[in-house]
Amino acid sequence: MVKFKDIFKSFSAPYLKTSNEREHSDYQLKYDHSLRVLENCQGICESLNLTPQQIQTADIAALFHDTGRFPQYFKYKTFKDCDSCNHATMGVKQIIRENLLRDLPKSQLRIILGAIALHNRMEIPPHIPEQLRTVTKIIRDSDKIDIMGVMLVHMNESKHLGSVALMGLEEKPDEITDSVLASVKAGEQAIYTDMTCINDFRLLILSWAYDLNYTWSKKQMINRNVVGQIFSQLPDTPKIARLYEPVMNHLNS
Ligand SMILES: [Fe+2]
Repeated sequence: MVKFKDIFKSFSAPYLKTSNEREHSDYQLKYDHSLRVLENCQGICESLNLTPQQIQTADIAALFHDTGRFPQYFKYKTFKDCDSCNHATMGVKQIIRENLLRDLPKSQLRIILGAIALHNRMEIPPHIPEQLRTVTKIIRDSDKIDIMGVMLVHMNESKHLGSVALMGLEEKPDEITDSVLASVKAGEQAIYTDMTCINDFRLLILSWAYDLNYTWSKKQMINRNVVGQIFSQLPDTPKIARLYEPVMNHLNS
């Protein structure tokens, strides 16, 4: 992976070079995230029975999955797709335009680009080739596990107003949106556009438990104390408390 890490580093270097401190730290956030998603991907791959070729394909897809974040932020100064562009599609276009993965066989490149394109979809489309499905599932889990940790740190800080990472949502103590709560109760992934405050974001992250594909990822949600932190940050009400057991049962299943 050294070679691909170097390619990714050279690709992102011009963006990171900006003298604007705020922009630099936003780019850095995505650069560090990409490396941690690669680490998570390696953890999942080790837990599965995959060929070295499959592992390499997943690793590269993981490392490059957010390539589109750099040109997206450069052009629109936001990571909010709904206010700018689909960063997954933008990433695929960028990899092709800059020919970043030129040395890979076409068949392998096709899986990587497909998985990147699908990494931020609400659901994985039903009829896609098995190899693409596996890589897509791996990078979606790897991505979610990292985002959970990052988001919880941001949400725990008192000065998160206006943070790009939290999509401009505000802290409204004791408030939650019914549709977001209903999704978690139903064991479904909550919808981004339904969120109206940071408690909703906490519930959305909790709802990702139901979209994780692998045992390794589910265990991380427990071992990294994601569930514990979410509940400690949410309002202490019976409605919320009732969500705990089903989520834990699912994660331990
Ligand atoms: Fe992404």
